[in-house]
Parts: sequence; C-alpha cells; structure tokens
Amino acid sequence: MLRLWGSEALTSLSRVSPREKKLSKVFVTGGAGFIGANFVLDWLAGGHGAVVNIDKLTYAGNLKTLASVADNADHVFSRTDINDRDALDRLFAEHKPVAVLHFAAESHVDRSIHGPAEFVQTNVVGTFTLLEATRQYWQALDASARSDFRFLHVSTDEVFGSLSPTDPQFSETTPYAPNSPYSASKAGSDHLVRAYYHTYGLPVLTTNCSNNYGQYQFPEKLIPLVITNALAGKPLPIYGDGQNVRDWLFVGDHCAAIRTVLEQGLPGETYNVGGWNEKTNLDVVHTICALLDELKPRVAGSYRDQITFVKDRPGHDRRYAIDARKLERELNWRPAETFETGMRKTVEWYLANPSWVADVTSGEYRKWVDEHYCA
Ligand code: NAD
Ligand code: DAU
Repeated sequence: MLRLWGSEALTSLSRVSPREKKLSKVFVTGGAGFIGANFVLDWLAGGHGAVVNIDKLTYAGNLKTLASVADNADHVFSRTDINDRDALDRLFAEHKPVAVLHFAAESHVDRSIHGPAEFVQTNVVGTFTLLEATRQYWQALDASARSDFRFLHVSTDEVFGSLSPTDPQFSETTPYAPNSPYSASKAGSDHLVRAYYHTYGLPVLTTNCSNNYGQYQFPEKLIPLVITNALAGKPLPIYGDGQNVRDWLFVGDHCAAIRTVLEQGLPGETYNVGGWNEKTNLDVVHTICALLDELKPRVAGSYRDQITFVKDRPGHDRRYAIDARKLERELNWRPAETFETGMRKTVEWYLANPSWVADVTSGEYRKWVDEHYCA
C-alpha cells in the first residue's frame, strides 16, 4: 500500500508506478497567486506528484507566473471559485486528491480596509465551502485513504494581532486578536478549519506564517512595490513613521515549511512559520535602496531620495514576530535564506524580469486572462 504522508512518502513518489502516481494528486487552491504559484513550481520541480491548481484568477492570480508548467502533464489548472460548491464536487470526483493545500484568499490588508466584503466571502465563506466539499469527499474514502488524507490550511501571523516592542514573539498558543478585516477573516477561517478536526475528525493542519517576499509577488505589497516604484522613478511610500516591524521570510522557505508540515505534521496541530528576521519597514526600504544602488545605480543620487512618508494605514499593527521553535523542534524545519541572501535574490529577480512586472502593472495579464477564460 502507498502510505502517502509517511516519512518516505514525498521523496518516493517519483519511484511509484504510473497508477500509484496518479493517486498522489494534490489540490492547491490559489495556486496562481504569489505563494501558491511558488509552491506549485517548487512541488513540480521536486517531482512530488501531480497538482490540480484551483484558482478564481482575481486581480492577484497570474497564469503568466505558471507559464513554465503550462504543458506539464502533472499540472492541471482549473479556473474555479472556492465558493462554487458544485464545481468543487466535480473536481473531487474527477481527480480524487490525497490532500488539499488551501492558499486561496484575499490577502492584502489595505484592500480589506476599503472593501471588506470580498474578504469575508472568500476567506470565511469560501473556506467553509471548501471544507464542506472536502468533508463530503473524505467521508466516502476507505479507512486507509481517510487516515492518510490531509487538509492543510495556509494562514497568517496577523490573526494574533499586534505586539509591543518588548512582547514575546507569537507562539502557537498566543490568543487570537485580529485587527483588520483581512486578519479577522483569516482568523474566522482558522477557527472553521479547527472545528472540522474536532467535530468531524477531518485531518487538518494549519500554518501561521509571517510576511513573505520573493519572486512573483504582486507589486501592491511593500517589497515589490518599493522595488518597482524605485525603478520607475516614483515615490517610495512609507506609512506613518516607518517603525512598524514585520518578520520577513523568503517565499521558498515558506513553501519548504508547508511541504514539511504536510509530510510530517500531526493532524489538528498548528505550526508557526517565520524567518527570525524582524525589521522595521524603514530598514527594509533602506535595504532595497542599497541593493538597487549597487545593482542598477541611478544617474545621480540614491534611490533613498525617493522615500516619502505618507498617511498611516488605519489600525496599523505595530509589530509582528514569530516564534518558529515548534516547527524546528518537532519537524526539523529552519529557513535556508537569511534576509540578506533572500533580498538580494528578490531584487535580482525583479531586475531580470521586467516584462513580468510590466504585464502586472499594465494590466496586460488581465487582458490575456479575459481573452482565454471569458470569451
Ligand atoms: P495572493 O493574493 O498573491 O494570491 C491569492 C490567490 O488566491 C490568487 O491567485 C487569487 O486569484 C486566488 N483567489 C482569491 N479568491 C479566490 C476564490 N474565491 N477562489 C479561488 N481562488 C481565489 O496571496 P498570497 O500572498 O500568495 O497568499 C496566499 C495565502 O497565504 C493566503 O491565504 C494568505 O492569507 C497566506 N499568507 C500570506 C502571506 C504573505 O506575506 N503574502 C503570509 C502568510 C500567509
Ligand atoms: O504577516 C503576514 C501578512 O503579511 C500576510 O498575511 C498578508 O497577506 C501580507 O499582505 C502581509 O501583510 P502586511 O500588511 O504586513 O504587508 P504589506 O506588504 O501590505 O505591508 C508591510 C508593511 O509595510 C506594513 O507595516 C505596511 C507597510 N507599508 C505597506 C505598503 C504597501 C508601507 O509602509 N507602505 C506601503 O506602500
């Protein structure tokens, strides 16, 4: 019998027969977004098995990120809203996944302040719909497949609220205290996932991760926004006094942590994921400016000259910091990148991929999606 999440499972999938390999399919929701797409690309590159990529393609979903796997037989893309129960049921019946990795969400705090409804719809109602479809599918599996099955929910450290400069980092037992419509909606989804374990026995895993950065991040978030604005000669907007602290993790490390939790995590457990990289926003922007000054110097002066302090974000959380010791102690995961190596890779990637940036900033990729999916 193929034990999918035993110690050897993920590494042995490339050695199994074609029939067994077909059985090793996983669902990834939100796999056209920043972290989901990085996860899909890493998963396929590592030969971990087949992926059904379920994504609604909102403004944040970008199939161009997945261009290199467009013809890969192990990658099936389905433009599907996680609120569409019938479509989810059909996908489960057709593909019979061994796990669901749930990344799909509305993810930008500023957007949640201006339009919270979509956050409740996707993050809370959508997660509920996905859980219900998963539960129905999972309950019909045989006993062995039921116990091997996993639902891994990708969540955020923002559910824990805001820390003072002297507070200890967030641990897995820190009480929830979300402060934005985004974090409140993610907290709601975390609670639903927990309830499905305790009530129905669905084998769930939850990860709560700190701020990610890296290739393919939509330039509405701080790091890609600052890189792209700097190169375009635009202001680099810093909210408030620039002293808010975030704990930065390179996206490839987050993807590795998710694979580790999927493979070895205990159902019902939550795992904090972080980079041990607490930085003020001003420090982050200075780091980007220094890298750009070195790699693509301006004609005169420094990119720092473009820094502009702007009105603060309402309810702006002061500090996030993750205590990731449980993941290290129990599952032996640690980030591979330091902030310095990860930031250098990231700035180099944005410099080397101007057409990806031009497409997302011009809306070119939306036109492409509309032509291919909305005819
Ligand atoms: P993103 O906004 O880049 O991507 C989200 C993806 O979900 C997009 O492809 C979008 O099209 C898709 N999507 C949105 N609504 C959908 C729906 N109703 N049905 C199907 N697909 C839908 O987000 P991201 O930064 O990649 O974040 C991915 C996950 O990780 C989210 O759950 C987020 O809360 C969590 N997270 C993000 C960070 C971070 O720093 N970015 C940190 C910790 C946790
Ligand atoms: O902590 C994990 C979270 O990190 C994820 O759950 C979210 O999906 C992700 O968007 C991110 O949330 P933040 O609000 O921390 O990320 P953002 O990049 O929007 O902002 C990072 C910090 O930079 C924050 O303190 C606000 C500040 N900021 C942001 C922007 C876009 C600025 O000063 N200027 C800006 O223009």
